[in-house]
Amino acid sequence: RGIWVKAMAASELEPDDADRFDYEGQCIAVYNVDNEYLATGGICSHEHAFLSEGYVADGTVECPLHQGIFNIRTGRPLSPPVTIALKTFKTKVEEGHIYVFVE
Ligand code: FES
Repeated sequence: RGIWVKAMAASELEPDDADRFDYEGQCIAVYNVDNEYLATGGICSHEHAFLSEGYVADGTVECPLHQGIFNIRTGRPLSPPVTIALKTFKTKVEEGHIYVFVE
């Protein structure tokens, strides 16, 4: 089960950028980490904040609301107040577009 969904053009996402992508009620954050495209759940596991508006550095994202930090690749929480891991999604690039595998 699951489907590859076209999220955005890879050229729209610079290194250490994040962007928001919504699909059937799921909010997803897509990141450029050293020109590798990664995706996690788009809403912080602490309260309601969009991680696409967070600060991306060294493969981590810092939540814009209370500065909790997650490892983007694994979704693991790294710094308080976040304690719950983010969901992560498989990604691929085809013909210049980023695709996210949504289940
Ligand atoms: Fe993200 Fe609080 S909402 S750290």
